[in-house]
Amino acid sequence: MNPAVAANLPAAASGPWRQVPLTRPAVGAGELAQLAAVLDSGWLTQGPRVAAFEEQVARLCDSRYAVAVSSCTAALHLALLACGVQPGDEVVLPALSFVATANAVRYCGAIPVFVDIQPETLNIDVRAAEAAISPRTRAMLAVHQLGLPADMEPLARLAQQRGLALIEDAACALGSRYQGRPLGNWGDAACLSFHPRKIITTGEGGMVLTRHAELAARVRRLRQHGMQRGDRARHEARCYLPEEYVELGYNYRLTDLQAAVGLAQLERLGELVSERRRLAQRYHAALAAQRWLRPYTEPQDCQSNYQSYAVWLDPAAPCRRDALLDALAAAGIGARPAPTAIHTLSPYRPWRPDWPLPHAEAAAQQALVLPLFPGMSEPEQDYVIEHLYRSLDPFANSSG
Ligand SMILES: Cc1ncc(COP(=O)(O)O)c(C=O)c1O
Repeated sequence: MNPAVAANLPAAASGPWRQVPLTRPAVGAGELAQLAAVLDSGWLTQGPRVAAFEEQVARLCDSRYAVAVSSCTAALHLALLACGVQPGDEVVLPALSFVATANAVRYCGAIPVFVDIQPETLNIDVRAAEAAISPRTRAMLAVHQLGLPADMEPLARLAQQRGLALIEDAACALGSRYQGRPLGNWGDAACLSFHPRKIITTGEGGMVLTRHAELAARVRRLRQHGMQRGDRARHEARCYLPEEYVELGYNYRLTDLQAAVGLAQLERLGELVSERRRLAQRYHAALAAQRWLRPYTEPQDCQSNYQSYAVWLDPAAPCRRDALLDALAAAGIGARPAPTAIHTLSPYRPWRPDWPLPHAEAAAQQALVLPLFPGMSEPEQDYVIEHLYRSLDPFANSSG
């Protein structure tokens, strides 16, 4: 290793930290206690814990309504339907995201219209979104990529001017802030994920946040087979309440077991986000001297929860991104590529747009995410940092 570079490294790690996963869920005794209480209660799905979980997330996100569902994919599907997206409508969305963002559009029979991202943030390029709007556009989907807020103010203005629904894919963004406020209020609806790779987890799970009473009511119906009246109202009633199915719905329920885990996780949300931000600052400091890697940056007014720590590998680096991932994997480090350029995936070939999407394609080729999770020890992080330098230095030296 180059001694000048080595001098910039935190104390080198060795020894028992051989396996550093991409993430490790921060769950423990608090979650177990909540789970036991649900099992004792006998009410296992869509009951009081789900209602309490919804109330607390709504409060934390300054949102009027919150409706829990089985995943963020389900949340996106129902939010799009509740915003009136119909077969044949167009939905403008960033080309770079997890495939679920576009899948939800297709579940509605709508047409995904992919637009490019800003390379500095990996988030939707508002001017590209505006240029893609056509008379058939019904909605825009903004993704807060890897927890970093998309530029919501101009997007909300654009949606209002053009009469479009605006939905936030906030799968990764619980605990992030935009203009000093939590995310989830800029669009007509915002969708959260509680998958184990997210900020808090319920194993699987999702939620729709909205300020519109009618939209919330429709999502509540759709998550439960189109039933007019929720289970809670029926079970708590002191008289017989008949079930009524008023439209085609789905089984997208969240269980009380999951919600109980979520409630325990929520108690630690502030601490979990602070810990992620602290570890991100450590990566920033340690990687500043690594000339082939560039972290993506927080624009003014955006505060990321660092759901993931993303870096760009310089295209001029003599090592390709996948070779770097291989080298890290060989050292037991769980780094991964950045999100996908969805239009390049085979199910999305029919919706590949006519215009180029250079930044989304470059990010899909050149960006990677590094291990970062609350509870990651400094030696674990040092081990990742050291291996990044080790993997890139031989190439750096050979290229002068
Ligand atoms: C941006 C984005 N949208 C949607 C999803 C889907 O979330 P879920 O797994 O809860 O369905 C993910 C999950 O990784 C995501 O990253």
